[in-house]
Amino acid sequence: MADKLQAKMVLDKSYQISEVDKRIYGSFIEHLGRAVYGGIYEPGHPDADEQGFRKDVIDLVKELQVPIVRYPGGNMVSAYNWEDGVGPKESRPKRLELAWRTIETNEIGTNEFVDWAKKAQAEVMMAVNLGTRGIDAARNLIEYTNHPSGTYWSDLRREHGYEQPHNIKTWCLGNEMDGPWQVGHKTAAEYGRIAKETGKAMKLVDPSIELVACGSSNTDMPTFPEYEATTLDIAYDEVDYISLHQYYGNTSNDPANYLAKNMDMDHFIKTVTATCDYIKAKHRSKKTINLSFDEWNVWYHSREHDERLDPWTVAPPQLEDVYNFEDALLVGSMLITLLRHADRVKMACMAQLVNVIAPIMTENNGQSWKQTIYYPYLHASVYGRGISLQPILSSPKYDSKDFTDVPFIDSAAVYDEQDEALTIFLVNKHLEEAIPLDVDVRSFEGYEIEEHIVLEHHDLKAANTKDTTRVAPHNKGESSLEDGRLKAQLNRTSWNVIRLRKARTN
Ligand code: AHR
Repeated sequence: MADKLQAKMVLDKSYQISEVDKRIYGSFIEHLGRAVYGGIYEPGHPDADEQGFRKDVIDLVKELQVPIVRYPGGNMVSAYNWEDGVGPKESRPKRLELAWRTIETNEIGTNEFVDWAKKAQAEVMMAVNLGTRGIDAARNLIEYTNHPSGTYWSDLRREHGYEQPHNIKTWCLGNEMDGPWQVGHKTAAEYGRIAKETGKAMKLVDPSIELVACGSSNTDMPTFPEYEATTLDIAYDEVDYISLHQYYGNTSNDPANYLAKNMDMDHFIKTVTATCDYIKAKHRSKKTINLSFDEWNVWYHSREHDERLDPWTVAPPQLEDVYNFEDALLVGSMLITLLRHADRVKMACMAQLVNVIAPIMTENNGQSWKQTIYYPYLHASVYGRGISLQPILSSPKYDSKDFTDVPFIDSAAVYDEQDEALTIFLVNKHLEEAIPLDVDVRSFEGYEIEEHIVLEHHDLKAANTKDTTRVAPHNKGESSLEDGRLKAQLNRTSWNVIRLRKARTN
């Protein structure tokens, strides 16, 4: 008879990885498909505000507590003229958008996006074009957004109705410059040079900004991780973060292998961290480069559909993946992976936010609705703030097509010292069996269980639509706490959020 499955864990207040930087719950809006037009912006929609922004979408973004949103691309930024998107709307040019082969109307640009982000209570992470442009356009843009007044570009912003500077703090030096698909694709040495010189000029305009250099577009890139090493070797002193991008899919319909893919994400983070530290040592530098995982998600459902779309239309339905339950489980495991690397991953963006490979969907002139992946993202963002703890976990394991020794249980824990709250995030990847978990939480004396949230469904392929919510969390998870021992039942293929809090005595 096979051994009974059982997982054990020790969680201790003093096993601290790092404070979680809330920016790891960031997201991304690109001028792509219906993310902007028909997503965040739809004048004429019954829920649109005076600027044409959909209030129903803003409410969902606020519910997710998204702290930072990357903009305006993505691949799109590599052929984007930012000047097209500022000033009177009637004189903004329509352009061929080369990355996604659509028509860009430029109705929304930098100023409107900053307004939208304020309404959504998020910061902006702005990307500059290092594909077709370079130092000059970037230094003009930052003078336009961040310089108070008294110069050509800052006064132009004021003329455009924005008296105060936007003070955008976080800037991406281009996007996926290692990718041959990128307009203005560059070798690492070419990119390292332009990133260094552009960063230098931008910091001369505003020394308070932080800069993100492009790393690899995914772990399968032939230049990974040499691209990071060469770029950082050249631009180490100017940049503050290196970016990582990664999307996964289940094209071969192998759920066990699919659910293990956050192990690749873990390997990606470890390799890039090691590369940063190698260059740090090589330069005898005191400065540490941290990681910005500024594109991550599942992306594969919509690829065939998108190949059939006609080019040169405005806001076509591109990259509209409809996510199922197993996608939500992998997204949960990816969030757990980010939390477990909270010491080095300081920013991350779920790509993207609305309609385009997104947790939030909208109908043109209709309602908005939540995809399955909305929920793990919501739970991590809302409850995953504080100190990321190192769970000492012993879990049964399995092998899959691409991975060996995959723990059936993934876990991260976040301790909020101020609120005296502990949240444990767990995924059970077992396709058939529930796994009982026994956690030693003796260092959390006087704590009690507030809630055990579970996202589960008997059908891994169950998805939500605008009319039907098949996948949504409940809080009837089975767990108990006695004498510092937390016992929880982790149902087969489930996402679990166990929330403990110190009992209040009053
Ligand atoms: O998020 C969709 C696209 O994926 C982005 O534009 C690009 O950076 C990445 O390849």
